[in-house]
Amino acid sequence: MCGIVGYTGHKPAAPILLEGLARLEYRGYDSAGLAVEGDGVIEVAKAKGRLRVLEEMTSKGELLAGCCGIGHTRWATHGEPSMANAHPHCNPTKTIAVVHNGIIENYQELREKLVKKGYAFTSETDTEVIPQLLDQYYTGDPIETIAKMMVRVNGSYALGILFEDHPEAVYAVRKDSPMVVGSSEEGNFIASDVPAILKYTRNVYFVDNMEIVEMTPEGVHFYNLDCEELEKTQTTIEWDAQAAEKGGYEHFMLKEIYEQPKAVKDTISPHIKNGGIVLDELKLTDDQLRRLSRIYIVACGSAYHVGVVARYVIEHMAGIPVETELASEFRYRKSIVEENSLAIIISQSGETADSLAALKEAKARGAHVLAIVNVVGSSIAREADSVLYTWAGPEISVATTKAYSTQLAVMYMLSMKLAQVRGTLAQAEFDALLSDLLGIPEQIQYMLGDKERLQWFASKYASSHDIFFIGRGIDYGISMEGSLKLKEISYIHSEAYAAGEMKHGTISLIEKDLLVVCVATQHELFEKMVSNIVEVKSRGAYIMGLTQIGCFSMEDTADFTVYIPRIADYFTTSLAIIPLQLLAYYVSLARGLDVDKPRNLAKSVTVE
Ligand code: AGP
Repeated sequence: MCGIVGYTGHKPAAPILLEGLARLEYRGYDSAGLAVEGDGVIEVAKAKGRLRVLEEMTSKGELLAGCCGIGHTRWATHGEPSMANAHPHCNPTKTIAVVHNGIIENYQELREKLVKKGYAFTSETDTEVIPQLLDQYYTGDPIETIAKMMVRVNGSYALGILFEDHPEAVYAVRKDSPMVVGSSEEGNFIASDVPAILKYTRNVYFVDNMEIVEMTPEGVHFYNLDCEELEKTQTTIEWDAQAAEKGGYEHFMLKEIYEQPKAVKDTISPHIKNGGIVLDELKLTDDQLRRLSRIYIVACGSAYHVGVVARYVIEHMAGIPVETELASEFRYRKSIVEENSLAIIISQSGETADSLAALKEAKARGAHVLAIVNVVGSSIAREADSVLYTWAGPEISVATTKAYSTQLAVMYMLSMKLAQVRGTLAQAEFDALLSDLLGIPEQIQYMLGDKERLQWFASKYASSHDIFFIGRGIDYGISMEGSLKLKEISYIHSEAYAAGEMKHGTISLIEKDLLVVCVATQHELFEKMVSNIVEVKSRGAYIMGLTQIGCFSMEDTADFTVYIPRIADYFTTSLAIIPLQLLAYYVSLARGLDVDKPRNLAKSVTVE
């Protein structure tokens, strides 16, 4: 997520803005910039890279005179990390400067129309349409102009805006992306998040959707879309700065678990148009998709587990043979890559060494390489032939949750697209699946409501030495991710096993009260799973059952059951993984461990 700060008062703005941006560094970024208004002139400074580059460029802000300004740290979504794409963005006469957090979904259409009206664009960003629109609509009244822009723009945005002919004023507006306003003796502030202004005040206003803010050294005013002034109440922040970075959650992992509904929605919605799925970024024609002979899915860790699930989904839905393999194995196996094949490299960071090497290997063997990554401009994104981005935003906790969920969403959309193009999915089936797909964010939110029960259950098993996760088909893939989540942050030995394979040796490890998490969300395999559950239960295991609402016979065998809402069997992973993430989180918490930074692990494994 990008970071926004704004200030107006009687102190030099630039140093205050730089300090505020530094408080937002946890949000992840790849470039930064400032716009400061002094004596009725707006000056802009932008730099790729870390904040210190901008600090050196502006002598810690001293080179930018003025007591009113806006600042930005950019997490790239549209357009590589670069000076040109860094914010603020301006209108042609540089009398309007804008910083933005969010995604303008109709920016291409707006850009085309603005170019026809003679506007030139200097960046690849979606944001740059905003200052041009404000320029086009400008009436001399910023509130009126901003309101008109808001009616025209679709998407999510938190904006900081300067108008040169309104010195000392900072304007802000918010739709879906967060924005807070703070007042203090030193002046008035806007920010994407509380940490940026906690040094000056704990009394903030949370800007609501479609509200416009006008801020001067004398005070702050709020307006609605009809330019009518609003009264708002202040909130006092009780959090400390560190807690504020986590949005009030105790750990980034829990914050990111709870961000999953929005992350999945942000990932899906740009691809849904007129009741269909649009994946132009694939850069493969429908005919090429029809002629695909095989798909190779290659990744590491949790990303690999997405591939395990995706294999079942794609083969069953689209009828294409799929091989899913660990990148560290693929890169050395001298894999036979068929003609007309697609290699999909899944990676949150886009920097995992094994996955990058596997990408190059697949490319060298003639596959079209598609990357599914969360970081714009990352090495894997740059090396691939095509990229489908996940819009999870920066993921800070080492244990991935929201990135994993958004990767699943991309694979579902890809699978449905392939099935539609290859005619293996009737329109009615497609429509029903699309309805379930669009419902996933809300269903994830529903699953998060079971938090207390899982916290209680986790405390009962926090002292375990061994925990098994078993399942069949997609449920086996879910078991893999549940097991990895648990072991990487709780240090409890855990193993995911194909339920049908237990009897071939591993069942000898089952003993009294050993916890076995039995994942049974696939209707056609449910009875088989119940037999496997009985096998382990009869040897003393304590059973946690995880199944769909309606499969109530699970409770005849399981000691503790978690139900997910009814959804197409293809998509159950997205819901079943939520209780397993929460289970891992609360076990780790109960063991007093560093949930966000587990021992021996790094967020991105950029070495072999
Ligand atoms: C998952 O919780 C782990 N952090 C780890 O397995 C991770 O998924 C793996 O290292 C792959 O990382 P990537 O998605 O950035 O390539």
